[in-house]
Amino acid sequence: MSEEKSLLTIKVLPNAPLEVVGTVKIVLADGSEVEKTNAHLCRCGASKNKPFCDGSHRKVDFKD
Ligand code: FES
Repeated sequence: MSEEKSLLTIKVLPNAPLEVVGTVKIVLADGSEVEKTNAHLCRCGASKNKPFCDGSHRKVDFKD
């Protein structure tokens, strides 16, 4: 019997969010769950829709 492994890919986009390639379940701080395919997660801290990127990294000129 073989066990199939599915790997998610997380891409670190230059001066931009983390791109999660694949379908993931994200458990939010309030315990609610969101299923997303190809999610972009904020790593600049400026998003008004954390943990998701809302494009604010451009406004704050985020550099990694
Ligand atoms: S990385 Fe895009 S808003 Fe933070």
